[in-house]
Amino acid sequence: MTNLIEVKDLSVQFSGPKMGLFRKKSAPIHAVDGVSLNIRKGEALGLVGESGSGKTTFGRALLRLIEPNSGVVHMNGNDGRKNITELDAKNLRKAWLNMQMVFQDPDSSLNPRMTVMDTIAESLLVNRIAKNIREAKARVVEVAESCGLTVEQLSRYPHAFSGGQRQRISIARALVTKPEFIICDEPVSALDVSIQAQILNLLIELQEEMDLTLLFISHDLIVVAYICDRIAVMYLGNIIEIAPTKDLFNKPLHPYTEALMSAIPSDDPDQQLSESVLAGEATGVAGERKGCLFAPRCRYADGDKCSEIKPVLKDFGDGRMAACHYAETLTLTGFEDL
Ligand SMILES: Nc1ncnc2c1ncn2[C@@H]1O[C@H](COP(=O)(O)OP(=O)(O)O)[C@@H](O)[C@H]1O
Ligand code: SF4
Ligand SMILES: [Mg+2]
Repeated sequence: MTNLIEVKDLSVQFSGPKMGLFRKKSAPIHAVDGVSLNIRKGEALGLVGESGSGKTTFGRALLRLIEPNSGVVHMNGNDGRKNITELDAKNLRKAWLNMQMVFQDPDSSLNPRMTVMDTIAESLLVNRIAKNIREAKARVVEVAESCGLTVEQLSRYPHAFSGGQRQRISIARALVTKPEFIICDEPVSALDVSIQAQILNLLIELQEEMDLTLLFISHDLIVVAYICDRIAVMYLGNIIEIAPTKDLFNKPLHPYTEALMSAIPSDDPDQQLSESVLAGEATGVAGERKGCLFAPRCRYADGDKCSEIKPVLKDFGDGRMAACHYAETLTLTGFEDL
């Protein structure tokens, strides 16, 4: 399968907060720390990790909504291979027609003073794909209906809609220019559990119907597993494991993935007996410390190699990669209820 997106060594640093009496600048935060990742044409790739692990920053840097400090992003779209990181502002705006993002919170990403019609039509008008709203209307109606909205709803304002419907509007807005690639950043995290499945099912349908490639970001492994063919696990700005969804759940290769799974509530009482092995919080800043970043929380850490040498993401075949010195020798527990 060919890659639609190829990310190589992508890094984003933020300057740390000023500390102490003299407001001295602390070390920079390596929010994304040299991430390499391919996204195959037509797949849904999940990106999962605890809050603060760098998922949103990675997604934004991939589209250059945040400028990365270093690294290269290529897109092999229908209009040829493009180095996204080298595009000037005009060509980047053009590239965005083919790569879009859906955000977690539709409330803050939708303009309350714009009707649904104007909201969805905006990028057709701004990019002169349609001269006026009359010309844009047919495409807006088409995409809105694909997203489960009715023609009557297009003249209303966002406040008239429920959270789930507002997320449908955001998705329609992202899809109006027929992009090949969309990044969904926690698209159901702000919604009631009962509504989450509807939006996830909509995304699955749209992916099929529009031949979309998806990067699906979430802190929730079960949500990611519902929609994704493959999953990448992120910890403090680094990808620490990648695997096909089923294989990841059957037999994780990285202790952090095992720990995330142990924190999933289970229907099986035997699984619930095993206490969550994810103790403590993500500490330290990637790029600042030697050794394995997960070592302070890892119950398998050896206190020697683990605290001295940073493990690299190693290929274990069958689409599996993990960054742990002991990935081959540890027998880790997965999550059987999937
Ligand atoms: N604009 C910013 N300025 C400074 N630090 C930031 C900014 N955005 C994110 N960070 C920091 O970068 C890290 C990764 O954040 P983020 O990408 O939002 O993680 P996630 O989406 O996985 O929760 C966190 O430590 C966060 O505090
Ligand atoms: S390298 Fe060591 S500390 Fe890091 S995850 Fe593997 S066993 Fe744990
Ligand atoms: Mg986030």
